[in-house]
Amino acid sequence: MSTIRKDLFKKCYDFTLADEVKALGVYPFFHPIEETEGPVVSFGGRKLIMAGSNNYLGLTSDERVKAASINAIKKYGTSCSGSRYMTGTVNLHLELEERLADFFEKERCLLFSTGYQTGQGVIPTLVQRGEYVICDKDNHASLVAASIMAVGQSAKFVRYAHNSMEDLERVLKTIPADAGKLVVADGVFSVSGEIVDLPRLVELADEYGARILLDDAHAVGVIGRGGRGTPSEFNLVGDVDLIMGTFSKTFGSLGGYVVGEHDVIDYIKHNASSLIFSASPTPASVAAVLASLEILKKEPELIEQLILNTDYVREGLAAAGFRLMPSRTAIVSVIIGDQMKTLEFWKKLFDAGVYVNAFIRPGVMPGHEALRTSFMATHEKEHLDTVISEFTTIGRELGVV
Ligand SMILES: Cc1ncc(COP(=O)(O)O)c(C=O)c1O
Repeated sequence: MSTIRKDLFKKCYDFTLADEVKALGVYPFFHPIEETEGPVVSFGGRKLIMAGSNNYLGLTSDERVKAASINAIKKYGTSCSGSRYMTGTVNLHLELEERLADFFEKERCLLFSTGYQTGQGVIPTLVQRGEYVICDKDNHASLVAASIMAVGQSAKFVRYAHNSMEDLERVLKTIPADAGKLVVADGVFSVSGEIVDLPRLVELADEYGARILLDDAHAVGVIGRGGRGTPSEFNLVGDVDLIMGTFSKTFGSLGGYVVGEHDVIDYIKHNASSLIFSASPTPASVAAVLASLEILKKEPELIEQLILNTDYVREGLAAAGFRLMPSRTAIVSVIIGDQMKTLEFWKKLFDAGVYVNAFIRPGVMPGHEALRTSFMATHEKEHLDTVISEFTTIGRELGVV
């Protein structure tokens, strides 16, 4: 070690921020849940209202979904022990791909092991040397990471101001007309819950010859006909080339997918590194999605209840004077605008029995620090009332409202 002049690990030894926040008693990350019923979870022997999960329809604790997973384990075991490409494909993968393609009204579907890996499989596989990936500045971190992978193969990565179609057009004008282009946006932005301006985005993509990839992680089961997401919400399913998503939110499981036309999905299937060199989604995960998909189709009232619940909290917090990010989806983000106050607020809510997410740097820009809440179809009115009243009490105490 004495011969090392510049130790690679120095940054780790010098990293003290997490310990400093822990010492202040307001560390909001990695808290282990001991037990969960969905809307209510146990931490350290205490029951808390979960107001920060993406389990939008509450399906992670649905008995039918759990039974489907258990039955799949009995039939196929706990792992496929290999990639889809080689020995890791079971009947359930094909069945789910068929059903999702049908549900999203696209020719083909391809499953990945996580939503994160889906972006990594689609973007660098499609966008190559001399081609352009064009991202909204507020896109999910996984899409940014995937775009940087494309840069590694000499593609160009450009960004436009958040949901600004004027800025997207400005960017498109700077790109050679004959270059391949992929515009990538979240359907529902994960920090704010805001919906993309899809009608204008589709017009611009058409005018400038770009393809579109939409990440609908937070839209499926929330907006669109029967919860089919953002393209369906705007009646533009045929105009969006590729739609990807995750199973870790509405579908109550783990994994990701992309849907689109046959040739494009087939190309991704035979070339995507994150698919070919990673083990396939477990049978238990896939079976849970199949069960959740059936529930989503048969019980659209769950979606209605989710929106009613979220609107109830949104209206309650707005009436109390909180500054909210623009959203009509299942996410309600409360802007606090100061890092320390956000952490303090988070801790007071936690102590009062309400679990939310603290969004601080680098997740958000300075001045946009926020408490992000999200709701489930299975929250009861008393849960929602507690969330509103604890927010209001603490907000007044800390001078936020
Ligand atoms: C917009 C978006 N894309 C992708 C992902 C990643 O999905 P997964 O959790 O399946 O890796 C998330 C999850 O937070 C997300 O919000």
